[in-house]
Amino acid sequence: MFRTKKYKATDFERNYTDVGIFVTNPEHRLQLCIIELEDQDLQKIRALQPYVEQHIKPIVDNFYKAIEQVPHLKAIIADNSTTTRLRQTLTTHVQQMFSGKIDDAFINVRQKVGRVSCTHWPIS
Ligand code: HEM
Repeated sequence: MFRTKKYKATDFERNYTDVGIFVTNPEHRLQLCIIELEDQDLQKIRALQPYVEQHIKPIVDNFYKAIEQVPHLKAIIADNSTTTRLRQTLTTHVQQMFSGKIDDAFINVRQKVGRVSCTHWPIS
C-alpha cells in the first residue's frame, strides 16, 4: 500500500501535539485500555497520516472495487447511496482515522457510522 515512498525515520521520532486519548466516557476508556491502545501507538498512527493521504485514492478505489465484486453488497450501495458519494465519506473517514486524536467526537462519529441504519448493521 505504501510502496512508492520510503518512510522517514524522523516522522516516527517527532512528538505530535494534539495526539492522544481524550475520551471522557469510562466505558470507552475501558475499551481502549482492553485493546492496549496507548499514546505511543497514536503517535505512530499520526506519523503515517501523510502516507495515507498520499495514497488515499487507490485505498478507497480498491475498497469499492472489492465490494463491487460481491453482488449483494453492490446492491446495498445502489439501494442506499452511490459509490461517488461514499468514496468521499470514506476518504474523510480513513484520513481522520490517522489523526491520532481519539476524543469523544471521534468516538461519536464511529458510533454513528456503525449505526447507519439498514446498511452497516447487516454487514457487521
Ligand atoms: C470498514 C468498512 C466500512 C467503513 C469504514 C464505512 C464507512 C462509511 C461512512 C464513513 C459512511 C458515511 C456515514 C455518514 O456520513 O452518515 C458510510 C455510509 C454508507 N456505507 Fe459504509 N463503510 C464500510 C463498509 C460498508 C460496506 C461493506 C457497505 C456496503 C455493502 C457500505 C455501505 C454504505 C452505505 C450504503 C452508506 C450510506 C448510508 C446512508 O447514507 O444512509 N459500507 N460508510
